[in-house]
Amino acid sequence: MVPLTEVRVNKLYYGDNLTVLRNEVERESVDLVYLDPPFNSKASYNLLFKSPTGEQSAAQTEAFDDTWHWGDESEHAFDEVMRGSNAQASELLRSLRAFLKENDLMAYLCMMAIRLVELHRVLKPTGSIYLHCDPTASHYLKILLDSIFGTRNFRNEVVWDYSFRLMDLPHFFNRKHDILLFYAKSKEAIFNMPKTEWTRDDIVRTRKQEIHTDADGEEWIWMPGGKGHSKNKLKKISDIIAEGKAISDVWQMPIVSSSAKERLGYPTQKPQALLERIVESSSDRGGIVLDPFCGCGTTIHAAQKLRRQWIGIDITHLAISLIEKRLKRAFPGIKYDVHGTPTDLEGARDLAMRSKYQFQWWAGSLVDAVPYGGKKKGADSGIDGLIYFKADSKTTEKAILSVKGGDNVTVAMIRDLGHVVDRENAKMGVFITLTEPTGPMKTEAIKAGYYKTPYGSYPKLQILTIADLFAGRQPKMPAIDQSAFKQAESEGGDQDDLPF
Ligand SMILES: C[S@@+](CC[C@H](N)C(=O)[O-])C[C@H]1O[C@@H](n2cnc3c(N)ncnc32)[C@H](O)[C@@H]1O
Repeated sequence: MVPLTEVRVNKLYYGDNLTVLRNEVERESVDLVYLDPPFNSKASYNLLFKSPTGEQSAAQTEAFDDTWHWGDESEHAFDEVMRGSNAQASELLRSLRAFLKENDLMAYLCMMAIRLVELHRVLKPTGSIYLHCDPTASHYLKILLDSIFGTRNFRNEVVWDYSFRLMDLPHFFNRKHDILLFYAKSKEAIFNMPKTEWTRDDIVRTRKQEIHTDADGEEWIWMPGGKGHSKNKLKKISDIIAEGKAISDVWQMPIVSSSAKERLGYPTQKPQALLERIVESSSDRGGIVLDPFCGCGTTIHAAQKLRRQWIGIDITHLAISLIEKRLKRAFPGIKYDVHGTPTDLEGARDLAMRSKYQFQWWAGSLVDAVPYGGKKKGADSGIDGLIYFKADSKTTEKAILSVKGGDNVTVAMIRDLGHVVDRENAKMGVFITLTEPTGPMKTEAIKAGYYKTPYGSYPKLQILTIADLFAGRQPKMPAIDQSAFKQAESEGGDQDDLPF
């Protein structure tokens, strides 16, 4: 158990987890790793944002594309594992390559191998890892884990059974489970067996033996002796009920369906209950939980709720900004650090140079915009995001967001934004630029006039620089409609200075 006085970790990183793990996470510093990497399923995930005006499908955006192909990066990862100190892992990866050749699956396994080696390094000897995958790659990942963690440290292959809406299929059974590969770092690993409730009837029904009743009317039954005891033990039924029932490695839990309360619109969001079970079973209060592919932050939410410290890493700004909204909503007053997202102009410039789309998503999150389109969809529409606001207490209206991270901004861009605002029946347009706007751009924006509401008038086209946003300035508009973001339920209480 970590002392209550110890400083909390609680960190969110935007970036590639391999780099973050290598540069930021110390050897043997983490208690529990849960990872839910993209599944090599060749799907592009679309993030669904609820539009208060019912334009859901148009407001989709591509969060990430989980396709891996064999290329320089895979070759590089392969070489690194070959040169690394884990001889078993190198031997296994070499054999897999001989068998699979240089295909997409092999690229995926190299990407995973190099990260699993790092995750093994950062785990404490009392730590554990849960790798969430589906049956298309679980058999390969299991031997990879065997080579890195050692077969003796394999604990369970947990089947998450989410069967629902089953169909008649012509050639095979419905595929309705995921696999969680659970390995310990060593035999010292923390494990708290989760228990479910059971009744006298459950106990009696599962064992068809005699019930003994003593002079006080107390009922006794023979039960398996438990770990290290080969013999059955005579136990009081009332004690067995009080102890609870140990659970198996098949977990039946529903997926986060489209109507689920906890749903945030992140396509691969995992159920809170699944993560709570993992966090409770394999860490103690105050322990450090790491999710290197943290998506919309289910692990982080579960860890925070169960009073663990946490580290989350994701490679998209969309995920990081969603997690921030989720945490602030669920845990008012929560404190954490965010790394890798720009905090000054230089950082913003660097992000804009590295990725146009990440820059747009990040800039949009500063003005509460819902991302629009993605690498493909938004490209020609002239819309980088939508800001929904309440024109009065009933009507939700929208503003069009245009984001420019380049050095050359021109008056034509403001004119275009004006046209898009008219074309889309929007009320306003917001132009965010990294470089200072020119005089003609400002004049063009002023020429657009005002959007008038019963409560006030707002400039129809507004230009804000990233420096303005860093200085705390925001577009002038009526109140933002937060229902555009699916909200996490509040977990109640103020998180500030809570002991673990
Ligand atoms: C399957 S999702 C995780 C969903 C998560 N378990 C949840 O409940 O929301 C995988 C995530 O990994 C992220 N990702 C993919 N490659 C990554 C990398 N190299 N480093 C960090 N994150 C990565 C994606 O952006 C995506 O959000």
